[in-house]
Amino acid sequence: MDAAVTEGFDLGRWSGERLVQVERALSDWVVADAPAGLGDAMRYAVLDGGKRLRPLLVLAANEAVRGNALAALRAACAVELIHAYSLVHDDMPCMDNDVLRRGKPTVHVQFGQARALLAGDALQALAFELLTPDDERIPAAVQARLCRLLARAAGHEGMAGGQAIDLASVGMALTEDQLRRMHRLKTGELLQGSVMMGAACGQVSPTAHQALARYGAALGLAFQVVDDILDVTADSATLGKTAGKDAQQDKPTYVSLLGLERSRAHARELLQDALQALDASGLQDTRALRALATMVVERNN
Ligand code: IPE
Ligand code: IPE
Ligand code: MG
Ligand code: MG
Ligand code: MG
Repeated sequence: MDAAVTEGFDLGRWSGERLVQVERALSDWVVADAPAGLGDAMRYAVLDGGKRLRPLLVLAANEAVRGNALAALRAACAVELIHAYSLVHDDMPCMDNDVLRRGKPTVHVQFGQARALLAGDALQALAFELLTPDDERIPAAVQARLCRLLARAAGHEGMAGGQAIDLASVGMALTEDQLRRMHRLKTGELLQGSVMMGAACGQVSPTAHQALARYGAALGLAFQVVDDILDVTADSATLGKTAGKDAQQDKPTYVSLLGLERSRAHARELLQDALQALDASGLQDTRALRALATMVVERNN
């Protein structure tokens, strides 16, 4: 990862320290003893895999605004649970029908469709439970704000809405505006939501709030543009999921619309926009946010 050391900031080290906490918290909160094997499917979906980009964005934004670390850890885990649930459902036969995810058989292949469906449902509910602890160290207003941000990012104006557009668009030639909207909803909203949840753990000026929203929007779209590129250029072993699926399933993507080179150029433009937004934020330390945006565009998995 070229972005690992940017401007003297060691992203690998910064992430490694935080991911120890995130992994421990996820393992503690997603328990195995749910009825009838449901807990095993939930843990299988969440643990031992994934880049954990969304939790890292929550924590980086929270640190940039010097927010409440307890709230941020819960928010980081909650958004990862929503993401994991979205992947379980995305892979099911009624959606993308994928058999490989995070280098393992998908949840429905391993546990059957009914349990995969329920594991997704239960992870979604657990995300909101995590955000609303009976703990006065996290003010009720912060808890409510986090719930609202996550609900919006996951719902019909966010991930679920975008997935609906994705399924309705198979075999269609979308315009760039239509494709951008689909990508912003299905992927961008949850990534932008991660940034805004981190910000909601602290106090921010209107200028910083606007800058973080712009950063999150640019990074969120860039992420899915790069996902479309990697589907064409990377192999399944590197991705941990089946490469070449988009063309096989006739999905409209940035690569099918613009071609590889223009898609790459667009991802770089979006990265510049994200970095410029941080420059205008007035926040003191945005190094982790900068490094994460760079990683999103330069990644190879
Ligand atoms: C994959 O997301 C699904 C998309 C939104 C494109 P990630 O690439 O973040 O998946 P993991 O969490 O690292 O497995
Ligand atoms: C999925 O987009 C976005 C989600 C909301 C899960 P993709 O279908 O392109 O994600 P991958 O490529 O299967 O990870
Ligand atoms: Mg999909
Ligand atoms: Mg998919
Ligand atoms: Mg994809």
